[in-house]
Amino acid sequence: MFIVKDERFFEQEEEAVIIGLYDRPLKFEGELAKLDEAMNGQLTELVKEGDISAKLNEAAVIPALGRIPAKRLIFAGLGKEKQADFHEMKEAIGTAVQRMNKLKLASAAVVLDSFVCENISANDAAQAFSEAFGLSSYKFKGYKQPSNDPEQSIERISVYTNAEAEEIKAALHVGYVLSYGTNSARTLVNMPANMLTACDMADYAKKLADTYGFEVEILEKEDMEKLGMGALLAVNKGSVERPKMITLKYQAQEEWTDVLGFVGKGITFDTGGYSIKPKDGLVGMKTDMGGAAAVLGAMEIIGELKPDQNIVAVIPSTDNMISGEAFKPDDVITSMSGKTIEVLNTDAEGRLVLADAMTYAKHHKADYLVDVATLTGGVVVALGTDKTGAITNNDTFFEEVLEASKEAGEFIWQLPLTEKDKKRIRSSKIADLNNSPGREGHAIMGGGFIGEFAEGTPWVHLDIAGTADTNKAGALGPSGATGVMARTLALLAMRRMKNEG
Ligand code: BES
Ligand code: ZN
Ligand code: ZN
Repeated sequence: MFIVKDERFFEQEEEAVIIGLYDRPLKFEGELAKLDEAMNGQLTELVKEGDISAKLNEAAVIPALGRIPAKRLIFAGLGKEKQADFHEMKEAIGTAVQRMNKLKLASAAVVLDSFVCENISANDAAQAFSEAFGLSSYKFKGYKQPSNDPEQSIERISVYTNAEAEEIKAALHVGYVLSYGTNSARTLVNMPANMLTACDMADYAKKLADTYGFEVEILEKEDMEKLGMGALLAVNKGSVERPKMITLKYQAQEEWTDVLGFVGKGITFDTGGYSIKPKDGLVGMKTDMGGAAAVLGAMEIIGELKPDQNIVAVIPSTDNMISGEAFKPDDVITSMSGKTIEVLNTDAEGRLVLADAMTYAKHHKADYLVDVATLTGGVVVALGTDKTGAITNNDTFFEEVLEASKEAGEFIWQLPLTEKDKKRIRSSKIADLNNSPGREGHAIMGGGFIGEFAEGTPWVHLDIAGTADTNKAGALGPSGATGVMARTLALLAMRRMKNEG
């Protein structure tokens, strides 16, 4: 996809060349000044006229009209150099890439060094470019019949730079892999529930394991019965689809110790069960496996980048349906941990399947746990649709997850979990726990319930109900699934290796 070159970019035949433009008094300096000269000073004129803008997130396509061998120049406005920021730069690149993609080209080029400034090294610029390119070019294929207007997408990008080629290649790879894993997560979330059942998700995980040499284990209903996974089985009772407990293991160390555990909610469709959702609340519930998708996306990134960190990923998967056999409010179920649960609301099913998955991740010797789940509508009310809610039982571990999320550019915000909150979760008169202690602070109730199954293990809960999908298209992707937390989880694994090394 990316070919690193150290030639003079505007002397090459390229379909389109993306150039970063900082908002500085002299817009064209160094190589860009020579480009402007080759264009008879036309670029300076276009800046004066306002056809080319250096403002952050503005992009302009300028035809070269035969003055240079390249056909067109695409200027990506980067704003003030002093305020340059890695994540903002990705957005600015995404804007320019989307303009380029509209041209339906097969190849393009980028002048990497035009993005470099005091805050942004050539390696940063390379990673930002490839990540933004991958994210902003994402499109869910969908299921429309083939049209006569075949899709054309970029197959090759020449990256012009004077920086060290091997390092640039490595940075381009990291960025592209981060976008690739995120896009895979997006696709899983965008797929409707009839196309992605628990069985399909298990098959997907098996393929991932084949590609990257992960150990894979798929527990069937009979295995779950033997292990006493009463919580996952209860949610599955109303379904004709068989439940799956999917486990992937990535072993980086000789010893299976210091294991990082990822647990992802894999509800392929959530009707709410007998505590059924209103009809408007049902649409979109195919996204209730966003946590599983984040974990699978992260595992793909991990398979490519191979951190030095042992990882176990556990995904409990089923749909939450209604039938004569479905579980009901008032039922009492026994989880794999032995803890009994009074079901007050069958729509609080995520915490039930995650309860058994947390116990199972511990059974596989996870020493740290991160669960990711589209868990509650409450988190959307509390934090909106651009912030993932977090809960923890260990501030040091939370700091690590927070750092990884900052590196990924994915906003997370911690919610408190107090002893009083825990009391409410443990307030059932007839069982150890109840799955729905009332609407007050119910994002905290949901997360806190899952925490009961972490027991002493350091744990962070990430509620992505607001962030797993979006109704707004942006510079880094269309509306629909966001693939949120795939990068945070993967970078957490990469960082741990750095911190310890
Ligand atoms: N899957 C939903 C949460 C959800 C809501 C995800 C909106 C994405 C968008 C979850 O299983 C659920 O129904 N939660 C209930 C919990 C309540 C019954 C305690 C909720 O948030 O209303
Ligand atoms: Zn639900
Ligand atoms: Zn749900």
